[in-house]
Amino acid sequence: MATLEIRDLHVSVEGENGPKEILKGVDLTVKQGETHAIMGPNGSGKSTLAYSVAGHPKYTVTGGSVTLDGEDLLDMAVDERARAGLFLAMQYPVEVPGVTVSNFLRTSATAVRGEAPKLRTWVKEVKEAMARLSMDPAFAERNVNEGFSGGEKKRHEILQLELLKPKIAILDETDSGLDVDALRIVSEGVNRVRDSGEVGTLLITHYTRILRYIKPDHVHVFAGGRIVESGGAELADKLEEEGYAAYVKGGTPQ
Ligand SMILES: Nc1ncnc2c1ncn2[C@@H]1O[C@H](COP(=O)(O)OP(=O)(O)OP(=O)(O)O)[C@@H](O)[C@H]1O
Ligand SMILES: [Mg+2]
Repeated sequence: MATLEIRDLHVSVEGENGPKEILKGVDLTVKQGETHAIMGPNGSGKSTLAYSVAGHPKYTVTGGSVTLDGEDLLDMAVDERARAGLFLAMQYPVEVPGVTVSNFLRTSATAVRGEAPKLRTWVKEVKEAMARLSMDPAFAERNVNEGFSGGEKKRHEILQLELLKPKIAILDETDSGLDVDALRIVSEGVNRVRDSGEVGTLLITHYTRILRYIKPDHVHVFAGGRIVESGGAELADKLEEEGYAAYVKGGTPQ
């Protein structure tokens, strides 16, 4: 069983007045087969956590550790982390002009699997995955995310998730900007991957509506750069009712 272990993680970004600490000691363990939801106010550092684990160069790890199956992730380049089994669905997926979806997916799958997928089976695999996500096949020949609507970008992230089959998937606000039908379709995609029992999912979200489709085993409240409370699915309902006021005093996360 693969395990992502985050221990006392401290992360800074370079601000106008020098380094600014965003993550202030994050502890979290996500095992293959488990689903964790992270909920927290804007600016509390949720995306910073996602990006830091994935290896975005903007973030400097100043303390702590992140391991996957005991291997030091922080020591790996971004592509090595992906090959080790880590996947990130971005809150704001980037446009990649000049690279078609079809090319991008095949190149990614080749890199992650260690060999190029056989063309015939691959084309079928992609077609079927797109159909499950109600994506028009014409998207395969469009440039990655270029001119995609918000919801189309999110579906494309889940298409990657289904095709790359990671051990640990971090989904950063995959539910934002989705209409009710798209939310259901995207959630079903996540659940298909999850039902394999072979992926650990870290779902970052603001809203409990996605948690009606994707049932979390654990819910964590994130405030002020760290996890301040953990519980079961019922914690999400409490947050929906009461908001984050108890965790954010006087506008400043405690
Ligand atoms: N380059 C930077 N310079 C200064 N501050 C930064 C920089 N990058 C990020 N931050 C700050 O880090 C904090 C955490 O940002 P992050 O995007 O991780 O929050 P979040 O919890 O994902 O918020 P949201 O719910 O709005 O997505 C914010 O206050 C943000 O302004
Ligand atoms: Mg964010």
